[in-house]
Amino acid sequence: MEEPTPPNPPKISERGMIARRKFLNFLAASPLVATPTVTTAIASVLVSGSDRALAQSYDVLRGSSRALGPDGIITAPGDALNVFEFEPAAKKAVLAQDAPAHWGYLESGVDGDVTRDINHTAYASYKIRAKRLIDTRKADTSVKIFGETWRSPIFLCPVSSLGAYDPEAGVTAARAAGKRGHQMILSTVDNANIVDVGKAHGSPVWFQLYPTDDWTVTQTLVSCAEAVGCPAIVLTVDRQGGRNTEDLFRMRRQDQRDCSGCHTPGFANEVSRKANFAGIDVSKVTNLYGTGMTWGFVDRLRKIVKGKLLLKGIVTGEDAKEALRHGVDGLLVSNHGGRAEESGQATIGVLAEIVDAVNGRIPVLIDGGVRRGTDVLKALAVGAAAVGIGRPYVWGLASFGETGVDRVLQILDDEFITIMRQAGALNVSQIRRDTVTRV
Ligand SMILES: Cc1cc2nc3c(=O)[nH]c(=O)nc-3n(C[C@H](O)[C@H](O)[C@H](O)COP(=O)(O)O)c2cc1C
Repeated sequence: MEEPTPPNPPKISERGMIARRKFLNFLAASPLVATPTVTTAIASVLVSGSDRALAQSYDVLRGSSRALGPDGIITAPGDALNVFEFEPAAKKAVLAQDAPAHWGYLESGVDGDVTRDINHTAYASYKIRAKRLIDTRKADTSVKIFGETWRSPIFLCPVSSLGAYDPEAGVTAARAAGKRGHQMILSTVDNANIVDVGKAHGSPVWFQLYPTDDWTVTQTLVSCAEAVGCPAIVLTVDRQGGRNTEDLFRMRRQDQRDCSGCHTPGFANEVSRKANFAGIDVSKVTNLYGTGMTWGFVDRLRKIVKGKLLLKGIVTGEDAKEALRHGVDGLLVSNHGGRAEESGQATIGVLAEIVDAVNGRIPVLIDGGVRRGTDVLKALAVGAAAVGIGRPYVWGLASFGETGVDRVLQILDDEFITIMRQAGALNVSQIRRDTVTRV
């Protein structure tokens, strides 16, 4: 005889829900979790350190307490499931200050944003070859760059004018990065200076250099950075020809503020309000970007930089080889986050050409479109020594300050160690070209 069908049998998903609710009720009633200390202890076992990544498969509570605001936007950094969720939160925070032009500045690429967007989407054409039956529980994510050990290969890129997104600008970002063991490159034109940023970080940060067209100013910027122990000067070489940041101009149409207090026309004002120029005579400077720099300038700079000298913005093998001839110590493959030229080339797409050109003689770093731990792994596999993020940490900064930057880094670290383990790598040197395949 056929067994009687129970009235309205629960569907699989409903059954799952009931089981989960029962489990939660059990937990709530349990004397074990009634004490806050034990609850906290359980929570920290589930979410602490690199164990978080290993625990994810059974961490059924992970999503349950993470409510969104009525607009579907996260209301606390801990609510974010990935770094993308910080973008709308940052937009909301910046627009709440009636500053659409500041939002446009952050988001803008150039022209139609093709290069900005392909920087990230191109990562999808690299596939990861997972390796099985390797005990990777003790995987080590640290990297050694110029003798410095970084706990993570992910560093903060130089982003100008962070004061538009946080009152303490680079100081706040540095505090978060330093606590988590991430290195940072400070922009020449941040609102915070290299002294305060280094202190907040806990160890000297790298300095990105826009040299200006006055050599005396260049020399002073370099010597101020080196005086506080800055181990590396990163000369940005991709802003020589001008650019069309259309998104910024579009958003600026909506900005009702009188911006002349900060943005009075003329070069002197552009830099004189920036902290790294304090006390420097900038009266002879006429340009920060289009200074007519050539390889001769690199030679001249090489002679005064005592520590390491890197070029940021190299995107061809020919230029990489030329950089070697001019005594450069490292390269940062970058197209300024799609804010230099609308080349349509992703940085991950040109990385192999540059890595092959330098053939292991100097480290090659990369930035642009890195939004996932899998992107980090792919870049390392192609040959990057470290991987930079720009906009994502500024989303964290603009929406929640230091805790936002911290959470962005935590998410990327967790995602990275997870995929590193799945790819069978015990340390970053085991992430090699054959870790990925390209289609
Ligand atoms: C708002 C903004 C300001 C930036 N300012 C600088 C800068 O001052 N110097 C520099 O070398 N690069 C600058 N960059 C480029 C970043 O260093 C980095 O190359 C880029 O943001 C990486 O791409 P991503 O934003 O997709 O992560 C800036 C980028 C953004 C988004």
